[in-house]
Amino acid sequence: MSSTPASTPTSTPALLAGKVALVTGASAGIGLAVARRLVAAGARVALVARTRSTLDAAVASLGGPAHARAYPASVTDLGAMAALPGRVVADFGHLDILVNNAGCNHRGPLLTITAEQAAEVITTNLTAPIYLTRAAAPHLRKGGAIINVASLAGMVPVHHEAAYSASKAGLRAFTRVITEEMAERDVHVSSVCPGPVDTGFFGDVTTVPDLVFSQPMSSAEDIADAVMSALRAGTPEVAIPALSGRLATLAYVFPSLMRALRPLLERRGAANKRRYIASKG
Ligand SMILES: NC(=O)c1ccc[n+]([C@@H]2O[C@H](COP(=O)([O-])OP(=O)(O)OC[C@H]3O[C@@H](n4cnc5c(N)ncnc54)[C@H](OP(=O)(O)O)[C@@H]3O)[C@@H](O)[C@H]2O)c1
Repeated sequence: MSSTPASTPTSTPALLAGKVALVTGASAGIGLAVARRLVAAGARVALVARTRSTLDAAVASLGGPAHARAYPASVTDLGAMAALPGRVVADFGHLDILVNNAGCNHRGPLLTITAEQAAEVITTNLTAPIYLTRAAAPHLRKGGAIINVASLAGMVPVHHEAAYSASKAGLRAFTRVITEEMAERDVHVSSVCPGPVDTGFFGDVTTVPDLVFSQPMSSAEDIADAVMSALRAGTPEVAIPALSGRLATLAYVFPSLMRALRPLLERRGAANKRRYIASKG
């Protein structure tokens, strides 16, 4: 196995040399793109996801065990999450950065999803990051950071995604409170709130509300760049695209404006969604 991070960019060498990061949901999409950026910047990364085979492939693509190690687990296994930061410190020697990225969504009106599905969304997107933050914080070295991957859906709720919107709004609220508490330990905390991102997270695209597609699509790499800039600049919250974040805030503060704009946004989203589905063949 190569000891060089084969497919990683080298534009920010050594920015994070000597740092150790723990990234959840790191075998695909945004989490893998973040892991690539972290390794390219000199960090060693502990990768968490449920599927051993894709996690091992991710470790290999990052250059092997000198740069990354696999920790197969579901973040919904809260006992495992409470123990995980200690395991990472035992393996790597210390811990500097936690990226709470793993997420899940079950779409549809609340009464069309099961109570277990709603609970899975909250456990994955909110309870697990709280457990991991609690377990990681005592280990994080001064100058460390916690980045929580939330969503525009946590800035303005998306219909037919009640549990998901609640989980991401909760994650933003958690992030804000923890920011002050962690500042006392010289650990910076940020949330990153993406709009739609071209990853496997959509699943069956036809179930994604048209409204979601009304905002410009980002790539996983765009979000990884935002995570890196939050790490560098210590920005408390980053929305991507930034204009979508400002619109979401306005729509949350003025729900009547959102109601008025929604038909227009949904028409635009439906057209974008058709184009997106066609582009995927
Ligand atoms: N894509 C979007 O449009 C979008 C927009 C806004 C916010 N986000 C947020 O961005 C984050 C990452 O999404 P993504 O688009 O990168 O998704 P993705 O491409 O589907 O990747 C999800 C990653 O998380 C892992 N994962 C899923 N459930 C897990 C669990 N219970 N425990 C551990 N790992 C788990 C998956 O691997 P395994 O399946 O093997 O576990 C995979 O590595 C999520 O929090 C999501 O809510 C995404």
